[in-house]
Amino acid sequence: MARRSQGIIITDKYQMRTWARSMRHNSIALVPTMGFLHDGHLSLIQEAHNHAQLVVVSIYVNPSQFAPSEDLSTYPSDFDADIRKLMTVPGGVDVIFHPHNLYDYGVESAMDCAGMANVSCLEESGSGHETWVRVERLEKGMCGRSRPVFFRGVATVVAKLFNIVDPDVALFGKKDYQQWRIIDRMVRDLDFPVKIVGFEIVRDADGLAMSSRNVRLSPIERQKALSINRSL
Ligand code: PAJ
Repeated sequence: MARRSQGIIITDKYQMRTWARSMRHNSIALVPTMGFLHDGHLSLIQEAHNHAQLVVVSIYVNPSQFAPSEDLSTYPSDFDADIRKLMTVPGGVDVIFHPHNLYDYGVESAMDCAGMANVSCLEESGSGHETWVRVERLEKGMCGRSRPVFFRGVATVVAKLFNIVDPDVALFGKKDYQQWRIIDRMVRDLDFPVKIVGFEIVRDADGLAMSSRNVRLSPIERQKALSINRSL
């Protein structure tokens, strides 16, 4: 294994499970991310060291939480930069889990999803995946109103990550408040043996909550976005 501050990169979900099982005598913290890491992610990862002996960070742009009309294909990513940033976190990380086969169930014919609003990019790709975790009441309000497949995709991928990594604790940012509450409820309702930790929002100097998608904001849009924090 490479030095702790560098961590190892695991891209195969079966190898990830083997590593987690071999480390069972240690406590494991998982920080799920979609990459394009910023200081909000890095603070969350640093905080993970206060909750477990080993820290696993997953980097995976999850197709099941994007509708075909959303930005899956243009979601920002820079894996090499992410690795460099992870090396700056005090204590480093033990594993970077960057799976290539999370929904790899073999080739099946593509579905025709044209005009189907309640379908994700995963279904559109014809992966054959058909099992979903739904937190039925909490997924409906707020962001769920405009993104009908989003929380179902988030809960399902996080459940898969929990089954593969088997963490003792998992950390989520309160920036995505509804997501954090939904994962907490899923863990309670389905008896996942994972403690969920909510972490405070990390903001830029001007007060805007850090987010991977902020790179797309024009200066005017950024000013408009600041009104959210000001009104809070
Ligand atoms: P992503 O947007 O990459 O965020 C990963 C984690 O970092 C989430 O728990 C999010 O709330 C937290 N985070 C992001 N910006 C933050 C900030 N400014 N302050 C504090 N925490 C912050 O959220 C996702 O990915 C995905 O939906 C995921 C849970 C990985 C499932 O695919």
